[in-house]
Amino acid sequence: MVTPPNNDMPVIPSTRYAHIVGWGMAVPEKILTNQDLEAIVETSDDWIQSRTGIKERRIAGETESTASLGLKAARKALEVADILPTDIDLIVVATSTPENIFPSTASLIQNWLGANRAGAFDLSAACSGFVYGVDMAAQAIRSGSMQVAVVIGAETMTRVMDWQDRGTCILFGDGAGAVVLKASDVEGGVLSAILRSDGSGGDLLGIPTVGSEDLYHSDFSSNGHKMHKMHMNGGEVFKFATRVIKDSIEQALVKANISIEDLSLIVPHQANERIIKAAARSLNVDPDMFVLNVDRYGNTSAASIPIALCEAIEQKRIKPDDYAAFIGFGGGLTWASMVIKWTGAKTADTRTGLSINQQRRQFSYLSVRVRAQWKRFNQRLQNLADRINPRRGRIRRLRDKADQL
Ligand code: UT7
Repeated sequence: MVTPPNNDMPVIPSTRYAHIVGWGMAVPEKILTNQDLEAIVETSDDWIQSRTGIKERRIAGETESTASLGLKAARKALEVADILPTDIDLIVVATSTPENIFPSTASLIQNWLGANRAGAFDLSAACSGFVYGVDMAAQAIRSGSMQVAVVIGAETMTRVMDWQDRGTCILFGDGAGAVVLKASDVEGGVLSAILRSDGSGGDLLGIPTVGSEDLYHSDFSSNGHKMHKMHMNGGEVFKFATRVIKDSIEQALVKANISIEDLSLIVPHQANERIIKAAARSLNVDPDMFVLNVDRYGNTSAASIPIALCEAIEQKRIKPDDYAAFIGFGGGLTWASMVIKWTGAKTADTRTGLSINQQRRQFSYLSVRVRAQWKRFNQRLQNLADRINPRRGRIRRLRDKADQL
């Protein structure tokens, strides 16, 4: 029996639709295998594979970060959509591992893209964040207030692992995925979404950080969790995930006015192969309908759905006019499902050679880099001049202060 989606009904009819017209993913090159982990914690390849389905995950190198991975994914998505950075109205980055509390990772990416007309913000809904973000962007497009939005799921989860906790450190990996959403009057795109939260389960997984009431006392929170490190009660989260997936997808299908038989593909959050198989059983569908790549990337939190979507598209598992569902679940507790009618990128397949837009995008990225380098060079030059002539430095600082008054 499907619980009616209560306050989410009725869907307001709209003649504007939000279509996914671009997609891209980026993962670090460095691979961390289960055998590598055997040298770090007391575990085994056999245990990890049989309990999770994971064989390896990607781990960010020294020069990689949440924003750099997100940027790469976003650039690829813009390429597929053949959209200019200056056409973007909104950039949303779903992440639990932002570069800073602020400025947002989205603002960093906005600058690096040269998206100078875009608003940007980070979204915190853990592993459900990407679906939340796509829904927020789709609503803005459907309402008529925006034309183009980029939604990115990006994480460097390996930076917040407690490498002594074998129950969590074997699960997570790094990566990013992005989609471009665009307004259209052609029916399709994002058809429905169900967003949910149960904050009473907030202690089951999380990363305590600067705002935590316990920061004064020690590097540990009052319930013993390490600051800035992830903790999880795996068994309880497992039960929660298997409980909500079926109901959530069925509610999104009701809202989209289609049935499970109409679906061609389900892109789930990649937490554990056993969770995905259990979901297939409870929905009574062929497990092959679910995209599964947890074996190669582990759990990349908010990045896992867009990465899995990109791979499914590459493998031609979805074609125009197919229906697909996304389902995310994780910290909060939060969960979110979505039904879309797939559009594809009509322009991407037909374009050949360097288009004018490609050249303009390259120019935009280059000019941002040159500006940033110029700013750094200028700063260094001033610091040097101040060291050579301290009196000049004092006068300059006084002048700067006076300008601010
Ligand atoms: O993305 C957010 C959503 N996250 C999830 O959905 C994660 C959901 N949870 C899970 O995927 C699973 O609960 C885990 C994979 C985290 C754990 O699997 P489990 O089958 O629930 O194992 P368990 O925690 O019940 O532990 C079973 C045994 C324990 O030993 P004893 O007490 O039975 O002797 C653990 O100490 O396995 C032990 N164990 C390990 N052994 C080897 C726990 N972690 C490991 C390990 N290697 N890495």
